Amino acid sequence: MTTDLASLVNHQVRLAARPVGLPAASNWRFSEEAVAAPAEGGLVVKTLALSLDPAMRGWMNEGRSYIPPVELGEVMRAGGIGRVIASRHPGFAVGDTVSGAPGVQEYWSIAPEQVARSGLARIDLALGDVGQWLNVLGMPGMTGYFGLLDVGKPEAGQTVVVSGAAGAVGQMVGQLAKIKGCRAVGIAGGAEKCRFVVDELGFDACIDYKAGQLREGLREHCGNGVDVYFDNVGGEILDTVLTRINRHARIVICGAISQYNNTGAVQGPRNYLALLVNRARMEGMVVFDYAARYPQAIAEIAGHLKAGRMKSREDWLEGGVARFPEALGRLFEGANFGKLVLKVADD
Ligand SMILES: NC(=O)c1ccc[n+]([C@@H]2O[C@H](COP(=O)([O-])OP(=O)(O)OC[C@H]3O[C@@H](n4cnc5c(N)ncnc54)[C@H](OP(=O)(O)O)[C@@H]3O)[C@@H](O)[C@H]2O)c1
Repeated sequence: MTTDLASLVNHQVRLAARPVGLPAASNWRFSEEAVAAPAEGGLVVKTLALSLDPAMRGWMNEGRSYIPPVELGEVMRAGGIGRVIASRHPGFAVGDTVSGAPGVQEYWSIAPEQVARSGLARIDLALGDVGQWLNVLGMPGMTGYFGLLDVGKPEAGQTVVVSGAAGAVGQMVGQLAKIKGCRAVGIAGGAEKCRFVVDELGFDACIDYKAGQLREGLREHCGNGVDVYFDNVGGEILDTVLTRINRHARIVICGAISQYNNTGAVQGPRNYLALLVNRARMEGMVVFDYAARYPQAIAEIAGHLKAGRMKSREDWLEGGVARFPEALGRLFEGANFGKLVLKVADD
């Protein structure tokens, strides 16, 4: 079915000002554009769902990182899933479901010269639904998979601790640790998230850090110490886990969400001498470095999902791109329960 592009209006969210601390409404500007027919070699994708990621906070800052900042006035960068609605590119047909980085907008027009470096890829909805393609089969799933296996290097029988355990990356890390024969201990905010992590995802234990019992919880649930700590949050939690690590432990520095909205200096680990005493290693990772190996990981994870060895939880928000500013804030309040996904259009 062909879409009459001339009848469409593309609603967008642009970065208006760089935030200081938590992002606010004043950081965003809403805009509208017409949707032009693609040039030879280009295509137009209709956004179905957008991925809300803590990393977005970093992309709003000026300065050097693993990826350039979003420029002022630019459509906010976002990963997502969409449907091709017009194509003059031989590799994509109208009706294809694709993953990529549409940005916070309803339609993504990709110029011919941009297609190759846009990261656009056809996805197979038989392997997982749209939410799962943004979660366990998508960027967070790849992060948990390669961060745990390549950097954490867990061995059967060892204890793996992961913070942000009920979130997108955390779900993958704990479940994969169990599949690899490890003891999996989560850290999450609130009794309900902890129950989910143990009862639904099959972790051995989960510590509610908001109940103020992290130290006691680690002592109780990590009797043999911590061999791998997969850190999603940084700050106090990282410091506390460092007091429990084993000889030759691996600390995977995946993220530090507790620090992203700091207006002062980032709080680094005070207890870093635990690395020296235990001949342990702390290593950062960025998921994009593993892009060439995503297909292999996706095939393996899809197999786990199909066999019922792995579950996924997505937290869908309705309301389209207009709700993006509010949705982003939910990540920093811990208001999301599972991978946060913003629905933009009906499938
Ligand atoms: N290195 C990479 O390539 C890469 C790729 C993807 C993601 N990441 C990082 O991985 C981490 C998790 O990302 P995600 O997408 O899976 O997000 P998520 O865990 O689904 O959502 C964020 C969660 O962080 C927790 N949180 C928020 N503020 C916190 C605080 N001050 N202290 C402790 N916990 C806090 C909340 O859970 P609670 O309710 O449990 O507190 C919240 O639900 C982030 O740090 C992200 O930047 C890194």
